[in-house]
Amino acid sequence: MVIVSLSITDSLLSDLDFLKEEMGFTNRSEAIRYAIRGLISEKMIEFKSSENIVATITGLYNKSVNKDVLARLQHDYDDLIKTLLHVHLDEINCLEVMVVKGNGDVLNELIHKLRSLKGMKELKHCVTSSK
Ligand code: NI
Repeated sequence: MVIVSLSITDSLLSDLDFLKEEMGFTNRSEAIRYAIRGLISEKMIEFKSSENIVATITGLYNKSVNKDVLARLQHDYDDLIKTLLHVHLDEINCLEVMVVKGNGDVLNELIHKLRSLKGMKELKHCVTSSK
């Protein structure tokens, strides 16, 4: 491992120390490594194209989502979407988890289309492998 130094504000350091305690990290470096891995997992496919991205996409949406448009979109990307889990959370909200595998550019395209759907309240993705 290499040693790097960084400059951060007192308040950010205080938040980091709080999370270090709450999440059980043994030191600040471990907490910072965890944070960096999270950022890489979340953002890397947005900047780096890759052929074999494995990821999950989690979408929380409400009744106003056009179900036909959503279903068509998912059929358009059926090469990418390996499986899909749908949960009716309550009378108005649904949660969907898609497991995807394929090209990073195509995955990005799908994420952007899903995110732009009216009624999509939250959309997150997590890359689990990008070898
Ligand atoms: Ni539902």
